[in-house]
Amino acid sequence: MIILFCGDVVGRSGRDAVKKHVPILRQEFALDLVVVNAENAAGGFGLTERICGELYDAGVDILTTGNHVWDQRQIIPYIDRDPCLLRPANFPRATPGAGWRLHPAGGRSVLVVNLMGRLFMDALDDPFARLDDLLAEHRLGGDLAAIVVDFHAEASSEKMALAHFADGRVSAVFGTHCHVPTADAQVLPGGTAYQTDAGMCGDYDSVIGMQKEPSTRRFVTKMPGERPQPAEGEATLCGILLETDDSSGLARMVEPVRLGGRLTQHLPRR
Ligand SMILES: [Fe+2]
Ligand SMILES: [Fe+2]
Repeated sequence: MIILFCGDVVGRSGRDAVKKHVPILRQEFALDLVVVNAENAAGGFGLTERICGELYDAGVDILTTGNHVWDQRQIIPYIDRDPCLLRPANFPRATPGAGWRLHPAGGRSVLVVNLMGRLFMDALDDPFARLDDLLAEHRLGGDLAAIVVDFHAEASSEKMALAHFADGRVSAVFGTHCHVPTADAQVLPGGTAYQTDAGMCGDYDSVIGMQKEPSTRRFVTKMPGERPQPAEGEATLCGILLETDDSSGLARMVEPVRLGGRLTQHLPRR
């Protein structure tokens, strides 16, 4: 399986990067599945039904989210109608939507799991226990070609710990939420691919995707100021290319992708 995972899409420029690059990547790398975290796709805050449609039209299969999932209230009644749009699986039980999805890909299926961390974030159910429960029901091999976990978390320590916890049981644990790609893509000893943060699909001449002047002023003055708007320069699409072994479901190769915008470009060789 060849899977592309992209980090938090921020605003219009982030969406434009997905629309521009994903269809080409899909073809060039014969991608079996594309997973994109879209929690900031609508003006930096949440996402809408229309934006979900735009991202699917660009060739995205699964949308993951995080702490910003409910920022646009219209997504609350919509999420139960869209099984490909996930919210963290360790949200309380009564929360609308699903936290994981078994998606058909290449004649088999891929399990995509969305989880959220608890360190320096809102109180939630235990993501480690939630993943353990899911992995008791879903084991790699047979019809299940791959398991990809989006761990939406603030602390790199919690992300690394979850990756080691899952090592050998899932194909990949990729972090989101920090909006900056980390340089630690690797296959862990047990065969799970890992990168602490995928980085955002957004304009990097910004403060994590938002306009730099008002965002900086907030730190300088300690005043709330107006609601920040996304930066609108050309976005860098930041993602991770994952290749899994067809028999074990574990990772064979993991490499970052950075396309367009300001960041140093990186595209894996085919
Ligand atoms: Fe985000
Ligand atoms: Fe987030």
